[in-house]
Amino acid sequence: MYTCKFTVMNYQRFFSGDAQVMQYSAIRRMARISSQPGIISFSAGAPNADTFPAEEIKETVSSILDSEGKTALQYGLTLGFGGLVDAIVDFCRKKKISSVTSEQIAITSGSQQALDLVGRLLIDPGDVVFFELPSYIGAISAFRNLQATLLGVRQGTDGIEIDELISKIEQSKRSGRHAKLIYVIPNFQNPSGITLSVKKRQQLLEVADKYDLLIIEDDPYGEVYFDPSLENELLPIKSFDREGRVLYISTFSKILAPGLRTGWIVAPMQIIEKLDMAKQATDLCGSMLDQRIVAGCLRRGIIQKHLPRIREFYRSKCQVMLDSLKSFMPSEIHWTRPTGGLFLWVTLPETLNSEEILYSCLEQEKVAYVIGCPFHVNGEGANTLRLAFCKENEDNIRVGIEKLAKVFRSYCK
Ligand SMILES: Cc1ncc(COP(=O)(O)O)c(C=O)c1O
Repeated sequence: MYTCKFTVMNYQRFFSGDAQVMQYSAIRRMARISSQPGIISFSAGAPNADTFPAEEIKETVSSILDSEGKTALQYGLTLGFGGLVDAIVDFCRKKKISSVTSEQIAITSGSQQALDLVGRLLIDPGDVVFFELPSYIGAISAFRNLQATLLGVRQGTDGIEIDELISKIEQSKRSGRHAKLIYVIPNFQNPSGITLSVKKRQQLLEVADKYDLLIIEDDPYGEVYFDPSLENELLPIKSFDREGRVLYISTFSKILAPGLRTGWIVAPMQIIEKLDMAKQATDLCGSMLDQRIVAGCLRRGIIQKHLPRIREFYRSKCQVMLDSLKSFMPSEIHWTRPTGGLFLWVTLPETLNSEEILYSCLEQEKVAYVIGCPFHVNGEGANTLRLAFCKENEDNIRVGIEKLAKVFRSYCK
Protein backbone atom coordinates (compact mmCIF):
# COMPACT_ATOMS: atom_id res chain seq x y z
CA MET A 1 0.00 0.00 0.00
CA TYR A 2 1.26 3.53 -0.87
CA THR A 3 1.94 5.65 2.19
CA CYS A 4 2.53 9.34 1.85
CA LYS A 5 5.61 10.51 3.75
CA PHE A 6 5.87 14.14 4.80
CA THR A 7 9.35 15.48 5.21
CA VAL A 8 10.07 19.03 6.26
CA MET A 9 12.11 20.59 3.50
CA ASN A 10 14.16 23.75 3.94
CA TYR A 11 13.53 26.05 0.99
CA GLN A 12 16.22 28.58 1.90
CA ARG A 13 18.46 27.51 -0.98
CA PHE A 14 15.67 28.24 -3.49
CA PHE A 15 15.04 31.82 -2.40
CA SER A 16 16.31 34.64 -4.63
CA GLY A 17 18.69 37.29 -3.29
CA ASP A 18 15.73 39.71 -3.10
CA ALA A 19 13.63 37.21 -1.10
CA GLN A 20 16.50 36.61 1.33
CA VAL A 21 16.48 40.26 2.43
CA MET A 22 12.69 40.49 2.94
CA GLN A 23 11.55 41.17 6.51
CA TYR A 24 8.16 40.81 8.15
CA SER A 25 6.64 44.24 8.91
CA ALA A 26 6.85 45.14 12.60
CA ILE A 27 3.55 46.96 12.23
CA ARG A 28 1.72 43.88 11.03
CA ARG A 29 3.17 41.83 13.86
CA MET A 30 2.01 44.43 16.38
CA ALA A 31 -1.38 44.86 14.72
CA ARG A 32 -2.10 41.25 15.70
CA ILE A 33 -1.34 41.95 19.37
CA SER A 34 -3.23 45.21 19.51
CA SER A 35 -6.36 43.89 17.79
CA GLN A 36 -7.05 41.67 20.81
CA PRO A 37 -10.30 42.56 22.59
CA GLY A 38 -10.10 45.12 25.37
CA ILE A 39 -7.00 46.88 24.02
CA ILE A 40 -7.14 50.62 23.30
CA SER A 41 -5.19 50.73 20.09
CA PHE A 42 -3.21 53.73 18.91
CA SER A 43 -1.24 51.38 16.69
CA ALA A 44 -3.84 50.56 14.03
CA GLY A 45 -3.15 52.98 11.16
CA ALA A 46 -5.96 51.96 8.78
CA PRO A 47 -8.62 54.56 7.94
CA ASN A 48 -11.66 54.34 10.22
CA ALA A 49 -14.42 52.27 8.59
CA ASP A 50 -16.99 54.83 9.81
CA THR A 51 -15.65 57.17 7.10
CA PHE A 52 -16.51 54.77 4.25
CA PRO A 53 -19.65 55.87 2.37
CA ALA A 54 -20.91 52.29 2.27
CA GLU A 55 -24.52 53.03 1.20
CA GLU A 56 -23.45 55.26 -1.67
CA ILE A 57 -20.86 52.70 -2.77
CA LYS A 58 -23.57 50.02 -2.73
CA GLU A 59 -25.79 52.12 -5.02
CA THR A 60 -22.85 52.87 -7.31
CA VAL A 61 -21.94 49.15 -7.60
CA SER A 62 -25.47 48.18 -8.42
CA SER A 63 -25.82 50.85 -11.08
CA ILE A 64 -22.49 49.77 -12.65
CA LEU A 65 -23.53 46.13 -12.72
CA ASP A 66 -26.87 47.07 -14.28
CA SER A 67 -25.48 49.32 -16.98
CA GLU A 68 -22.01 47.93 -17.80
CA GLY A 69 -21.72 44.71 -15.80
CA LYS A 70 -20.11 42.67 -18.56
CA THR A 71 -17.21 45.05 -19.18
CA ALA A 72 -16.83 45.83 -15.49
CA LEU A 73 -16.27 42.14 -14.77
CA GLN A 74 -13.87 41.63 -17.69
CA TYR A 75 -10.08 42.16 -17.91
CA GLY A 76 -9.16 45.69 -18.91
CA LEU A 77 -6.25 47.93 -19.81
CA THR A 78 -3.11 47.43 -17.73
CA LEU A 79 -2.74 51.16 -17.11
CA GLY A 80 -6.32 51.46 -15.91
CA PHE A 81 -9.94 52.21 -16.80
CA GLY A 82 -10.04 55.28 -19.10
CA GLY A 83 -12.99 56.86 -17.27
CA LEU A 84 -11.00 56.88 -14.03
CA VAL A 85 -7.77 58.06 -15.70
CA ASP A 86 -9.68 61.08 -17.07
CA ALA A 87 -11.18 61.80 -13.65
CA ILE A 88 -7.67 61.66 -12.13
CA VAL A 89 -6.42 64.16 -14.74
CA ASP A 90 -9.10 66.60 -13.46
CA PHE A 91 -8.24 65.82 -9.84
CA CYS A 92 -4.52 66.53 -10.53
CA ARG A 93 -5.31 69.79 -12.34
CA LYS A 94 -7.19 70.99 -9.27
CA LYS A 95 -4.00 70.35 -7.35
CA LYS A 96 -2.15 72.53 -9.89
CA ILE A 97 -0.39 69.60 -11.53
CA SER A 98 -1.60 71.36 -14.64
CA SER A 99 0.56 69.84 -17.38
CA VAL A 100 -0.65 66.31 -16.71
CA THR A 101 -2.18 64.27 -19.53
CA SER A 102 -3.83 60.86 -19.45
CA GLU A 103 -0.69 59.25 -20.97
CA GLN A 104 1.23 60.20 -17.84
CA ILE A 105 -1.08 58.27 -15.50
CA ALA A 106 -1.18 54.66 -14.42
CA ILE A 107 -3.75 53.27 -12.02
CA THR A 108 -2.36 50.79 -9.55
CA SER A 109 -3.60 48.41 -6.90
CA GLY A 110 -3.31 50.97 -4.11
CA SER A 111 -0.38 53.35 -3.98
CA GLN A 112 1.68 50.52 -2.49
CA GLN A 113 1.79 48.82 -5.90
CA ALA A 114 2.98 52.06 -7.49
CA LEU A 115 5.84 52.19 -4.96
CA ASP A 116 6.77 48.59 -5.65
CA LEU A 117 6.63 49.02 -9.44
CA VAL A 118 8.65 52.26 -9.60
CA GLY A 119 11.16 50.64 -7.28
CA ARG A 120 11.52 47.73 -9.66
CA LEU A 121 11.90 50.07 -12.64
CA LEU A 122 14.45 52.39 -11.07
CA ILE A 123 16.48 50.55 -8.42
CA ASP A 124 19.44 48.26 -8.95
CA PRO A 125 21.05 46.61 -5.91
CA GLY A 126 23.20 49.18 -4.10
CA ASP A 127 21.50 52.27 -5.60
CA VAL A 128 20.92 54.95 -3.00
CA VAL A 129 17.44 56.07 -1.96
CA PHE A 130 17.15 58.95 0.53
CA PHE A 131 14.41 58.65 3.12
CA GLU A 132 13.05 61.01 5.73
CA LEU A 133 13.75 59.92 9.32
CA PRO A 134 11.28 58.46 10.21
CA SER A 135 9.44 57.23 7.07
CA TYR A 136 6.71 54.89 5.83
CA ILE A 137 7.45 51.22 6.47
CA GLY A 138 5.75 50.05 3.25
CA ALA A 139 8.18 52.07 1.11
CA ILE A 140 11.14 51.04 3.25
CA SER A 141 10.20 47.37 2.70
CA ALA A 142 9.53 47.79 -1.03
CA PHE A 143 12.93 49.41 -1.68
CA ARG A 144 14.86 47.30 0.82
CA ASN A 145 13.53 44.18 -0.89
CA LEU A 146 15.26 45.42 -4.05
CA GLN A 147 18.53 45.71 -2.14
CA ALA A 148 18.68 49.48 -2.37
CA THR A 149 20.97 51.36 0.00
CA LEU A 150 18.57 53.35 2.20
CA LEU A 151 20.00 56.54 3.69
CA GLY A 152 18.07 58.53 6.27
CA VAL A 153 17.86 62.32 6.54
CA ARG A 154 16.57 64.03 9.67
CA GLN A 155 13.38 66.16 9.65
CA GLY A 156 12.70 69.48 11.31
CA THR A 157 9.20 70.69 12.16
CA ASP A 158 8.92 71.72 8.48
CA GLY A 159 10.13 68.46 6.96
CA ILE A 160 13.37 66.99 5.61
CA GLU A 161 16.55 68.95 6.44
CA ILE A 162 17.85 70.12 3.07
CA ASP A 163 21.46 70.78 4.18
CA GLU A 164 21.77 67.30 5.62
CA LEU A 165 20.26 65.84 2.44
CA ILE A 166 22.83 67.67 0.30
CA SER A 167 25.70 66.53 2.46
CA LYS A 168 24.50 62.90 2.31
CA ILE A 169 24.10 63.10 -1.48
CA GLU A 170 27.64 64.46 -1.82
CA GLN A 171 29.02 61.82 0.53
CA SER A 172 27.39 58.99 -1.40
CA LYS A 173 28.57 60.40 -4.75
CA ARG A 174 32.13 60.66 -3.37
CA SER A 175 31.99 57.06 -2.25
CA GLY A 176 31.07 56.02 -5.81
CA ARG A 177 27.46 55.03 -5.06
CA HIS A 178 24.64 55.72 -7.50
CA ALA A 179 22.43 58.24 -5.67
CA LYS A 180 19.12 57.97 -7.53
CA LEU A 181 15.97 58.72 -5.61
CA ILE A 182 14.56 60.90 -2.85
CA TYR A 183 11.40 59.43 -1.30
CA VAL A 184 9.19 61.93 0.56
CA ILE A 185 5.70 62.04 2.04
CA PRO A 186 5.09 65.80 2.03
CA ASN A 187 1.70 66.02 3.75
CA PHE A 188 0.95 64.87 7.33
CA GLN A 189 3.60 62.26 6.94
CA ASN A 190 3.11 58.68 7.99
CA PRO A 191 4.42 58.20 10.66
CA SER A 192 5.37 61.65 12.04
CA GLY A 193 2.42 63.85 11.03
CA ILE A 194 4.97 66.44 9.78
CA THR A 195 4.21 68.58 6.69
CA LEU A 196 6.95 69.74 4.33
CA SER A 197 7.01 73.53 3.95
CA VAL A 198 6.45 75.13 0.54
CA LYS A 199 9.98 76.52 0.60
CA LYS A 200 11.44 73.08 1.17
CA ARG A 201 9.26 71.59 -1.59
CA GLN A 202 10.91 74.01 -4.01
CA GLN A 203 14.38 73.44 -2.55
CA LEU A 204 13.96 69.68 -2.94
CA LEU A 205 13.35 70.15 -6.65
CA GLU A 206 16.45 72.32 -6.96
CA VAL A 207 18.49 69.64 -5.19
CA ALA A 208 17.07 66.93 -7.48
CA ASP A 209 17.96 69.05 -10.54
CA LYS A 210 21.45 69.86 -9.32
CA TYR A 211 22.39 66.27 -8.41
CA ASP A 212 20.35 64.55 -11.13
CA LEU A 213 17.98 62.63 -8.87
CA LEU A 214 14.30 61.72 -9.15
CA ILE A 215 11.80 62.48 -6.39
CA ILE A 216 9.11 59.99 -5.42
CA GLU A 217 6.35 62.11 -3.89
CA ASP A 218 3.98 59.84 -1.95
CA ASP A 219 0.83 61.77 -1.07
CA PRO A 220 -1.91 59.59 0.43
CA TYR A 221 -2.99 62.16 3.05
CA GLY A 222 -2.96 65.50 1.15
CA GLU A 223 -6.77 65.72 1.10
CA VAL A 224 -7.13 64.92 4.80
CA TYR A 225 -6.28 68.42 6.08
CA PHE A 226 -7.94 69.89 9.16
CA ASP A 227 -7.98 73.52 8.09
CA PRO A 228 -9.11 74.51 4.57
CA SER A 229 -6.99 77.67 4.68
CA LEU A 230 -3.92 75.39 4.53
CA GLU A 231 -4.76 74.06 1.07
CA ASN A 232 -2.27 76.31 -0.74
CA GLU A 233 0.54 75.15 1.50
CA LEU A 234 -0.10 71.59 0.43
CA LEU A 235 0.52 72.02 -3.29
CA PRO A 236 2.33 68.93 -4.54
CA ILE A 237 6.06 69.15 -5.30
CA LYS A 238 4.92 67.88 -8.70
CA SER A 239 3.05 71.15 -9.24
CA PHE A 240 6.42 73.02 -9.26
CA ASP A 241 8.14 70.43 -11.45
CA ARG A 242 9.09 71.72 -14.91
CA GLU A 243 11.71 69.07 -15.77
CA GLY A 244 9.86 65.84 -15.01
CA ARG A 245 11.88 65.07 -11.86
CA VAL A 246 8.87 64.09 -9.73
CA LEU A 247 6.88 60.85 -9.74
CA TYR A 248 3.65 61.72 -7.90
CA ILE A 249 1.79 58.86 -6.19
CA SER A 250 -1.60 59.01 -4.48
CA THR A 251 -4.56 56.86 -3.54
CA PHE A 252 -8.29 56.63 -2.85
CA SER A 253 -7.60 54.56 0.28
CA LYS A 254 -7.90 57.46 2.73
CA ILE A 255 -10.65 59.43 1.01
CA LEU A 256 -12.96 56.62 -0.11
CA ALA A 257 -12.10 53.05 0.98
CA PRO A 258 -8.81 51.10 1.03
CA GLY A 259 -10.61 47.86 0.16
CA LEU A 260 -11.15 49.21 -3.36
CA ARG A 261 -7.34 49.03 -3.77
CA THR A 262 -7.13 51.95 -6.15
CA GLY A 263 -4.16 54.28 -6.29
CA TRP A 264 -2.31 56.05 -9.08
CA ILE A 265 0.96 57.44 -10.27
CA VAL A 266 1.68 60.52 -12.41
CA ALA A 267 5.04 60.21 -14.15
CA PRO A 268 6.74 61.10 -17.45
CA MET A 269 5.52 58.96 -20.37
CA GLN A 270 8.80 57.05 -20.74
CA ILE A 271 8.41 55.83 -17.17
CA ILE A 272 4.70 55.01 -17.59
CA GLU A 273 5.52 52.93 -20.70
CA LYS A 274 7.98 50.82 -18.71
CA LEU A 275 5.54 50.63 -15.80
CA ASP A 276 2.94 49.25 -18.22
CA MET A 277 5.30 46.35 -19.04
CA ALA A 278 6.18 45.71 -15.37
CA LYS A 279 2.52 45.81 -14.35
CA GLN A 280 1.47 43.43 -17.14
CA ALA A 281 3.84 40.86 -15.68
CA THR A 282 2.52 41.52 -12.17
CA ASP A 283 -1.26 41.42 -12.51
CA LEU A 284 -2.25 41.94 -16.20
CA CYS A 285 -4.55 44.71 -14.97
CA GLY A 286 -6.13 45.98 -11.75
CA SER A 287 -9.77 45.31 -10.85
CA MET A 288 -11.95 46.98 -13.47
CA LEU A 289 -14.94 46.79 -11.15
CA ASP A 290 -13.10 48.61 -8.35
CA GLN A 291 -11.85 51.28 -10.75
CA ARG A 292 -15.36 51.83 -12.12
CA ILE A 293 -16.69 52.14 -8.58
CA VAL A 294 -14.12 54.84 -7.77
CA ALA A 295 -14.86 56.63 -11.07
CA GLY A 296 -18.60 56.37 -10.33
CA CYS A 297 -18.08 57.83 -6.84
CA LEU A 298 -16.17 60.76 -8.34
CA ARG A 299 -18.75 61.31 -11.09
CA ARG A 300 -21.62 61.26 -8.59
CA GLY A 301 -19.78 63.68 -6.27
CA ILE A 302 -19.71 61.14 -3.42
CA ILE A 303 -16.03 61.65 -2.59
CA GLN A 304 -16.30 65.43 -2.82
CA LYS A 305 -19.36 65.38 -0.54
CA HIS A 306 -17.69 63.11 2.01
CA LEU A 307 -14.33 64.86 2.19
CA PRO A 308 -15.40 67.62 4.64
CA ARG A 309 -16.89 64.94 6.88
CA ILE A 310 -13.70 62.85 6.82
CA ARG A 311 -11.55 65.91 7.59
CA GLU A 312 -13.73 66.88 10.55
CA PHE A 313 -13.83 63.25 11.77
CA TYR A 314 -10.03 63.04 12.05
CA ARG A 315 -9.56 66.67 13.11
CA SER A 316 -11.67 66.26 16.23
CA LYS A 317 -9.97 62.96 17.18
CA CYS A 318 -6.57 64.56 16.68
CA GLN A 319 -7.57 67.52 18.83
CA VAL A 320 -8.73 65.24 21.65
CA MET A 321 -5.42 63.39 21.49
CA LEU A 322 -3.41 66.64 21.53
CA ASP A 323 -5.43 68.02 24.46
CA SER A 324 -5.03 64.76 26.38
CA LEU A 325 -1.27 64.65 25.74
CA LYS A 326 -1.02 68.19 27.05
CA SER A 327 -3.05 67.37 30.16
CA PHE A 328 -1.42 64.07 31.10
CA MET A 329 2.11 63.66 29.71
CA PRO A 330 5.19 64.47 31.80
CA SER A 331 7.23 67.44 30.58
CA GLU A 332 10.16 65.27 29.35
CA ILE A 333 7.97 63.86 26.56
CA HIS A 334 7.46 65.67 23.24
CA TRP A 335 5.09 65.17 20.32
CA THR A 336 4.26 66.61 16.91
CA ARG A 337 1.12 68.66 16.23
CA PRO A 338 -0.25 67.48 12.87
CA THR A 339 -2.56 69.66 10.81
CA GLY A 340 -3.99 66.66 8.95
CA GLY A 341 -3.66 62.91 8.42
CA LEU A 342 -4.00 60.08 10.91
CA PHE A 343 -0.83 60.07 13.05
CA LEU A 344 1.34 61.90 15.48
CA TRP A 345 4.83 61.15 16.69
CA VAL A 346 6.11 60.98 20.24
CA THR A 347 9.71 61.34 21.41
CA LEU A 348 10.65 59.99 24.84
CA PRO A 349 13.84 60.92 26.68
CA GLU A 350 16.97 59.50 24.91
CA THR A 351 17.54 56.83 27.55
CA LEU A 352 14.11 55.21 27.22
CA ASN A 353 13.20 52.37 24.89
CA SER A 354 9.68 52.46 23.45
CA GLU A 355 9.67 48.71 22.73
CA GLU A 356 10.42 47.78 26.32
CA ILE A 357 7.78 50.24 27.56
CA LEU A 358 5.20 48.91 25.09
CA TYR A 359 5.11 45.58 26.89
CA SER A 360 4.33 47.38 30.17
CA CYS A 361 1.64 49.46 28.44
CA LEU A 362 0.02 46.33 27.05
CA GLU A 363 0.26 44.26 30.23
CA GLN A 364 -0.54 46.91 32.81
CA GLU A 365 -2.87 49.28 30.95
CA LYS A 366 -3.97 47.47 27.75
CA VAL A 367 -2.95 50.34 25.49
CA ALA A 368 -0.98 49.83 22.25
CA TYR A 369 1.16 52.00 19.99
CA VAL A 370 3.75 51.31 17.31
CA ILE A 371 7.43 51.52 18.23
CA GLY A 372 9.50 54.04 16.26
CA CYS A 373 12.62 52.07 15.36
CA PRO A 374 11.27 50.22 12.26
CA PHE A 375 10.38 53.58 10.69
CA HIS A 376 14.06 54.58 10.74
CA VAL A 377 16.22 53.32 7.88
CA ASN A 378 19.33 53.95 10.01
CA GLY A 379 18.21 51.76 12.94
CA GLU A 380 17.74 54.73 15.30
CA GLY A 381 14.52 55.90 16.95
CA ALA A 382 14.47 53.47 19.90
CA ASN A 383 13.03 56.27 22.07
CA THR A 384 10.23 57.17 19.62
CA LEU A 385 6.74 55.88 18.83
CA ARG A 386 3.74 56.51 16.58
CA LEU A 387 0.25 57.22 17.88
CA ALA A 388 -2.61 56.82 15.42
CA PHE A 389 -5.73 58.77 16.35
CA CYS A 390 -7.91 57.23 13.63
CA LYS A 391 -9.35 54.13 15.27
CA GLU A 392 -10.50 54.87 18.82
CA ASN A 393 -13.48 57.00 19.86
CA GLU A 394 -12.83 60.23 21.73
CA ASP A 395 -13.46 58.76 25.21
CA ASN A 396 -11.01 55.95 24.56
CA ILE A 397 -8.45 58.43 23.26
CA ARG A 398 -8.64 60.41 26.52
CA VAL A 399 -8.54 57.30 28.71
CA GLY A 400 -5.81 55.67 26.61
CA ILE A 401 -3.51 58.70 26.69
CA GLU A 402 -3.97 59.05 30.45
CA LYS A 403 -3.01 55.39 30.86
CA LEU A 404 0.02 55.74 28.57
CA ALA A 405 1.12 58.81 30.50
CA LYS A 406 0.97 56.84 33.75
CA VAL A 407 3.33 54.18 32.38
CA PHE A 408 5.67 56.73 30.72
CA ARG A 409 5.85 58.74 33.95
CA SER A 410 6.95 55.64 35.86
CA TYR A 411 9.85 55.23 33.40
CA CYS A 412 10.80 58.92 33.46
CA LYS A 413 11.52 58.91 37.20
C1 LIG B 1 2.71 56.97 3.14
C2 LIG B 1 1.91 55.84 2.59
N1 LIG B 1 2.09 55.48 1.32
C3 LIG B 1 1.39 54.48 0.77
C4 LIG B 1 0.44 53.79 1.50
C5 LIG B 1 -0.30 52.65 0.84
O1 LIG B 1 -1.66 52.89 0.73
P1 LIG B 1 -2.59 52.19 -0.33
O2 LIG B 1 -1.79 51.07 -0.96
O3 LIG B 1 -3.76 51.70 0.40
O4 LIG B 1 -2.92 53.22 -1.34
C6 LIG B 1 0.21 54.14 2.83
C7 LIG B 1 -0.78 53.40 3.65
O5 LIG B 1 -0.96 53.59 4.80
C8 LIG B 1 0.95 55.20 3.39
O6 LIG B 1 0.78 55.61 4.66
